[in-house]
Amino acid sequence: MPVTPIPESRNGQSGHGRSSIPAQLLSAVVWPFKTFIRRLIGEVFYQQARVTLLHEHGGVGLDWRWGNSLRRVHPIRRDFGWQSGRPIDRYYTEDHFLPAYQADIRGRVLEIGDDRYTRQFGGERVALSEILNVNPGMGGTTIQADLTDAKQIPSNTYDCAILTFTLQFIFDVPAALRTLERILRPGGVLLVIVPGISQIARYDMDNWGEFWRFTSLSARRLFEQVFRPKDITITTYGNVLSSLASLHGLHSTELTTAELDHWDRDYELVIGIRAVKRPAANTSH
Ligand SMILES: C[S@@+](CC[C@H](N)C(=O)[O-])C[C@H]1O[C@@H](n2cnc3c(N)ncnc32)[C@H](O)[C@@H]1O
Repeated sequence: MPVTPIPESRNGQSGHGRSSIPAQLLSAVVWPFKTFIRRLIGEVFYQQARVTLLHEHGGVGLDWRWGNSLRRVHPIRRDFGWQSGRPIDRYYTEDHFLPAYQADIRGRVLEIGDDRYTRQFGGERVALSEILNVNPGMGGTTIQADLTDAKQIPSNTYDCAILTFTLQFIFDVPAALRTLERILRPGGVLLVIVPGISQIARYDMDNWGEFWRFTSLSARRLFEQVFRPKDITITTYGNVLSSLASLHGLHSTELTTAELDHWDRDYELVIGIRAVKRPAANTSH
């Protein structure tokens, strides 16, 4: 996709007022020349040249390998990194959160949207896999329901429910959590990933709406309305670099593992929540 060039920093000049000969030269010759070069070699190479050769005059540099400057209003990629690799928020989901709790993915499993993580992490332990979507006509769907009002799903049904990147699309989060707790079997596990720092997911925004970003604290408060505090485990992932990289649509292999795994409690890029439904009271004597 073509990148719209943005104006260079002009060292504080507003472009108004007295027009000196150097200023006229700049606007008549230098800037058109730079614009021409920029179009000729492309935005990425141009920015790389600025960062590496000009030591990033007037800009704040990201790693030179990205070939881009932070002084830009357009993201490097707008697709979370999907087309060229794996998004950074999925790295935390697939390499950290779900592997840590994969033993919970067993028996009767409900997943929202598709069954990718049921299959990837549940494997042989899964006896029944259900896919829930809110809208009709989504391939693979076995249950069409709105989680805020899903009376058609029987109570005490699932051993595990997987909700990755879904709660931000549901306005009435408490109602959805009440449904999820109700349809879990006693002792069943809810595995949830929500975004803390993220761009808008345009497809979802246009189809069912995107409403929320979460923090570890808001997640805890919300889940404690439905689950016992001792049954909730919350983990955050991310740091300033991985957050910026994610916002720019870089994918996980564009950062090192050490960079991805550095944990900074003030940059909650994604939040993982494991909540267990209160086990049935022991009725044996
Ligand atoms: C981006 S997908 C997320 C799930 C997917 N497995 C993933 O990991 O990306 C968003 C999902 O939210 C679901 N959704 C949106 N609003 C919903 C609601 N009120 N009740 C149930 N599901 C909802 C949509 O059906 C869609 O499958």
